[in-house]
Amino acid sequence: MIYLDNQATTPLDPCALEAMMPLWGAHYANAGSVTHQAGRDVAQMVDSAIAEIARSMGAAEDELVITSGATESNNLALMGVMHHPRQRRRKVVSLVTEHKAVLGPLERLRQQGFDVQLLPVQKQDSQLPGVVNWERLAQMVDDQTALVSIMLANNEIGSLQPVAQIAAICRQAGCYLHTDASQALGRLPVDVDELDVDLLSFSAHKFYGPKGVGGLYVRRRERAVRLQGQIVGGGQQHNLRSGTLNTAGIIGMQVALSNTLATMDQDQIRIGDLREQLYRRLREIPELVLNGPPLRPEVRLGGNLNCSFYPLEGQSLMLLMPDLAVSSGSACTSADPEPSHVLQAIGLTEDQARSSLRFGIGRFNTTQEIDQAADWLINAANKLRSF
Ligand SMILES: Cc1ncc(COP(=O)(O)O)c(C=O)c1O
Repeated sequence: MIYLDNQATTPLDPCALEAMMPLWGAHYANAGSVTHQAGRDVAQMVDSAIAEIARSMGAAEDELVITSGATESNNLALMGVMHHPRQRRRKVVSLVTEHKAVLGPLERLRQQGFDVQLLPVQKQDSQLPGVVNWERLAQMVDDQTALVSIMLANNEIGSLQPVAQIAAICRQAGCYLHTDASQALGRLPVDVDELDVDLLSFSAHKFYGPKGVGGLYVRRRERAVRLQGQIVGGGQQHNLRSGTLNTAGIIGMQVALSNTLATMDQDQIRIGDLREQLYRRLREIPELVLNGPPLRPEVRLGGNLNCSFYPLEGQSLMLLMPDLAVSSGSACTSADPEPSHVLQAIGLTEDQARSSLRFGIGRFNTTQEIDQAADWLINAANKLRSF
């Protein structure tokens, strides 16, 4: 099998796996059990891992809430800000192209009576497809806005949003800025002060860490975020997220992140070259159209390629390539037969969206794999065309 679905998830870094094993073995104690040495030992391991994760994004250790992943982090950020008892503003501004892990909680907030505004993005025929419509954003964010939530990098078409510039608009309006950085952390430099964000979601399995663990950065310095915990119980993590910590997950997340960041710059150049190689080969397919921004690292997530093969159907192409793992639309919504909401937002028709495939190249892919994948795709397209 050739795995080109690194936007859905990444393979586990073997070093992260090794680092997690003792937490399931000898170091099984609860990090909250500070009444005995076994618990204190684990607490110390976990605390220093969290401090290291925080440091790597320019945050302080008491500014991270450990969660089960980006879906939970997004829920905590959005619900937590809007449900805070001292929150008087009622408006949340976001994008139509956000992940369902943002759109779902926003829909819930809308049902609860909040004013949820989803902004359109630039279309496929513009210079930067998928990027926020700047004028609409500036018009929409005002003194009634409590929160703006805009993802750093899109999981389907890789569009990068100008988050630091969006932050300036938020500062002027006196509202918080949340960004879902699930796809960005480990692929792009992420620093909470440079981005000037108040809340930032991330998930370990997007950077070669384990599944089921992630975090939310919550600004405490200067303009501290007023956030209401959504999972209540034993009061862990400053009451922002009760529940016994996923100790092995936290250690695995830290090791995976440190390793990813250590070689990120070289890896991203290599991954960019692999994407170029794949795209060059696929251009032999006459139907091929690039979806999303140009393949340049400053405007598009490295490793992400999304193409339409219209009128050839994406699902049919996939059926002809059983050993190639790619995705049609977003893997997180693959149970959902609807064509991608992101592709439709940049102006593709339903049929064009259904004819699209997403390729996600990662650190463990090789040039041989890219060549093989291209051969399979070209053959599949030829076969389908002749039916
Ligand atoms: C942009 C984005 N946000 C959120 C998520 C959900 O993350 P998790 O699987 O950690 O809940 C994903 C995963 O596909 C994603 O790509």
